[in-house]
Amino acid sequence: MVKTYWIGAVQAGEHDGAEVELKGWVHRTRGSNNIWFVVLRDSTGHIQCVIKRETVGDETFDALSGALIEASVSLLGTVNVDERAPGGHELVVGGGEVVGPVNPDRPFPITESSMAEAEGGETEFLLDNRHLYLRTQRMTTMLKLRSTVFGAIHSYFRDLDFVEYQAPCFVAGAVEGGSTLFEVPYFGRTAYLTQSWQLYAEAAMPALERLYTIAPSFRAEKSRTRRHLTEFWHAEMEIAWAGNDDVMQHGEALVRSIARTLLDEREQELASLDRDLDSVARFADSPYPRMRYDEAIETLQGVGVDIEWGDDLDYSKEKVLTADFDVPHFLTHYPRIAKPFYHRPDPDDDKYVLCHDLLAPEGYGEIIGGGERTWSEEEILERIDEEGTPREPYEFYIDVRRYGGVPHAGFGLGIDRVVTWLAGADHIRESIPFPRDSRRVTP
Ligand code: 4AD
Ligand code: MG
Repeated sequence: MVKTYWIGAVQAGEHDGAEVELKGWVHRTRGSNNIWFVVLRDSTGHIQCVIKRETVGDETFDALSGALIEASVSLLGTVNVDERAPGGHELVVGGGEVVGPVNPDRPFPITESSMAEAEGGETEFLLDNRHLYLRTQRMTTMLKLRSTVFGAIHSYFRDLDFVEYQAPCFVAGAVEGGSTLFEVPYFGRTAYLTQSWQLYAEAAMPALERLYTIAPSFRAEKSRTRRHLTEFWHAEMEIAWAGNDDVMQHGEALVRSIARTLLDEREQELASLDRDLDSVARFADSPYPRMRYDEAIETLQGVGVDIEWGDDLDYSKEKVLTADFDVPHFLTHYPRIAKPFYHRPDPDDDKYVLCHDLLAPEGYGEIIGGGERTWSEEEILERIDEEGTPREPYEFYIDVRRYGGVPHAGFGLGIDRVVTWLAGADHIRESIPFPRDSRRVTP
């Protein structure tokens, strides 16, 4: 049963007047004993199909008009240009069959009213039925945007001759601190699920020099927030002979090129979500300002936020900071006490590290974290020890620095967060097919 015709192409006028076979799912129905209207849906669009008893005969009419919402059907017919039909075309059906019926005792549970109750697919009912919710218009659109974002990231790095490189998911130590590590029983020992590809990418600097990946990272985030998943998709890059400024330029160029690609390839989908296209164009075209951590602390203290120098900036603080910007902006030079051992202290003032976060505007907050790495043996040992971290899981990481270490830098971008922001969605769960958080590993 090969599918040759797509509803999107029919609605685009590619088959006017032609005899076609459309395959898809029953989206909506109405009619009477002699004429039946089915709105047929496939992954590319919707089309109204008209079925007449006198044309198709009793058997086919009864079978097709008995098909319930979300039954799959195959319909043969002629494409009719009709201004009044949604999309400008309809199918005048000459024959067809039900391929996969729906059991009348278990009608499709996701209805307009169950969705109206859920802002952004957040109700437990919709999450429990995620496997069925995937086929709704909103989710389908989100997944197409997501695919385009993944493609844009691959293109950005491959066009610049970066090598795609994979790190293990089972690891022996933390990258981003022990509090969000997932433990896994590992043949009598304890392993962890990786929080980041970074340390293993650094080991390949002398081998490949320019690397990137798109892979899942894992964080045991206890609280359920609009920005945190326990399993998220992480685009990371690492380059040799480079510093913080160099990778900030890549981060900015990457995010702009994601926004540009969405405008070029998915303008209609963005518009269907009511995303303001002018904003997305601004994210693609305008430069991203930079601010030092100290300035951010002053700004926050200036508006009465309770924060002290040395504190990390959580979401509530980022939200205040992003209020003044209508494009993403960088925060740089965090205190070394606020950041993990791998961040390189600033040679001009080693209270700070050479790092950056990129904060998305409109209250979305951090989408990128990165910076320059501690690359000499002496300095990495000092940083590990001052953090009070055991050296043992990082022996390989230290060892790389004993044989021709070079300056290098990189960053990680949270893809699910970027999709959420660029789609203008409320919740990170909206951006991923099967979201994982502290309370949910099903379906
Ligand atoms: O800032 P993070 O923790 O940085 C790192 O993991 C570095 N090792 C990356 C690197 O330099 N190669 O995470 C990077 C990004 C964040 O800015 C955020 O966008 C995303 O990953 N992120 C999450 N996204 C969804 N859910 C979570 N729980 C996330 N934790 C981080
Ligand atoms: Mg971070």
